[in-house]
Amino acid sequence: MTQYGPVDVIAIDGPSGTGKSTVARAVAAELRWRYLDTGAIYRAVTWAVLRAGVPAERAVEVARRCPVSIGTEPDTEDVRVDGTHVEAEIRSPEVSAAVSAVSAGPELRALLVETQRSLIGGGQIVVEGRDIGTVVVPDARLKIYLTADADVRAGRRAREVGSNPAEVGNAMRTRDGLDSSREASPLRPALHAVVLDTTAMTQDEVVAHILSLARLVVS
Ligand code: DC
Repeated sequence: MTQYGPVDVIAIDGPSGTGKSTVARAVAAELRWRYLDTGAIYRAVTWAVLRAGVPAERAVEVARRCPVSIGTEPDTEDVRVDGTHVEAEIRSPEVSAAVSAVSAGPELRALLVETQRSLIGGGQIVVEGRDIGTVVVPDARLKIYLTADADVRAGRRAREVGSNPAEVGNAMRTRDGLDSSREASPLRPALHAVVLDTTAMTQDEVVAHILSLARLVVS
């Protein structure tokens, strides 16, 4: 992707449980833009790695052999590995537990960044993940870094998946720790990112805030 100036991309990064997906989908729908969930791509590769029964270090081979395809409509979820739908499977606790180790591999990341950039194409898209503003689209017109208190994030995620907040909190802390401390593209706010602490905000408030910023920078 050769760029000579800002592109019509809104990058939304941050740890799990900050409401990234819901917020990003709502912002995209409101702007009539596309939406890309890059975490779903890492999850789909992780699902394929677990199915193949190989260690995380061999994820790049699996990703080359079993291509992931993903839809970019904000109101539908369409994630496939080799043509097989995996929307439900990629949210399983097994995939959630293994995804950080798989996504730490620099070779895999390089491959998937190319996939993401070709999906992003000319822009008019809201892209969420961990390294969108720092690595995938550093020229994004607007970069948001969502954060929230760890217990609040665990509570939100536990309600979403219908499970125990303490258990969810432990798994989340482990995953966020790995995602932030890895060498390749660690989770951190991008240069010029707007950091939004959503601890005391409703999702509607977060969406409204991002849209008000978007209207300042997007024609
Ligand atoms: O957003 P999510 O929780 O579905 O993401 C799952 C994992 O994928 C996350 O723990 C780290 C990895 N990921 C990543 O390394 N880079 C991204 N751009 C998106 C996700």
